[in-house]
Amino acid sequence: MNYRHIYHAGNFADVFKHCVLVVLLESLLRKEKPFCYVDTHAGLGIYDLQQESSQKTLEYLSGVSRVLDYGHKDIPVEITPYLTAIKKLNQAYIVNDDLTGDNIHFYPGSPFIARSLLRSQDRMVLMELHQEDVLTLREVFSRDKQVAVHHYDGYQGLKAFLPPAERRGLVLIDPSFEQKNELDLVLSALESALSRWQTGIYAIWYPIKDFTLVDNFLRAIRKMGFPYLISDLIIGKQTMLKEFIGCGMVIVNPPWQIEAALEKVLQGLWKALSPELIGGVRVTK
Ligand SMILES: C[S@@+](CC[C@H](N)C(=O)[O-])C[C@H]1O[C@@H](n2cnc3c(N)ncnc32)[C@H](O)[C@@H]1O
Repeated sequence: MNYRHIYHAGNFADVFKHCVLVVLLESLLRKEKPFCYVDTHAGLGIYDLQQESSQKTLEYLSGVSRVLDYGHKDIPVEITPYLTAIKKLNQAYIVNDDLTGDNIHFYPGSPFIARSLLRSQDRMVLMELHQEDVLTLREVFSRDKQVAVHHYDGYQGLKAFLPPAERRGLVLIDPSFEQKNELDLVLSALESALSRWQTGIYAIWYPIKDFTLVDNFLRAIRKMGFPYLISDLIIGKQTMLKEFIGCGMVIVNPPWQIEAALEKVLQGLWKALSPELIGGVRVTK
């Protein structure tokens, strides 16, 4: 396993993914009933952006830093919990009550963001296969009784941990796309997960480089016959080189009436993340 998320933490794709995650979790919080959050590819939990690996790529400067510097009045209110989680990690670097794109030191991963929204009745299950990264993740959540961290293959974990006892919740599938056939692995894991737990919400992140590949993937999801919602964010121009110009999240069994909130959040993010207004946003069934 060569992929290390620290090189990419806080980039535009993370911002997109984590804001969609917040919108989904907020919808689960509307009912008192407990829920379970399952993260199949959890990563480190917290990322030190001042570390050499992150400073090598500086990807966060065109991601989270742009959102922090965009001007709070233009950032959709729905993503306040996302900004709060970032501020919580960066308390020591807040100047004049404000955190700027230059001052940010730490970036929260999906497990940290989800944990910041959980109530005492909720629970989360995290899986990470990298043998060093899982140790860091364990440390972040040591002594937290609501969080279970497993050194486990996320796809296999869906068989082991679904359905959760709560019978209510969200599964985030956020692979590193190191495997050439990663989308096929996702499809077969999703199919098997849906056979175990038909009513769970599943959010699957995918990169947009090759539109044919994405279309085929979404067609296969459609064929599974469950309700779904597609949300995409594109911030670059399409070229023959199949560069990483955007990303998307397909949500299977989306919460009721979530489209409007997602559209609003993504339009706001797109303006912050694509200062030259290249690309755009799509939220569609
Ligand atoms: C894109 S990163 C996850 C980022 C994290 N979800 C977040 O948003 O903060 C993908 C992670 O999956 C891990 N990984 C790769 N293959 C895996 C597998 N089969 N099962 C579990 N984890 C895996 C990688 O080590 C990496 O940490």
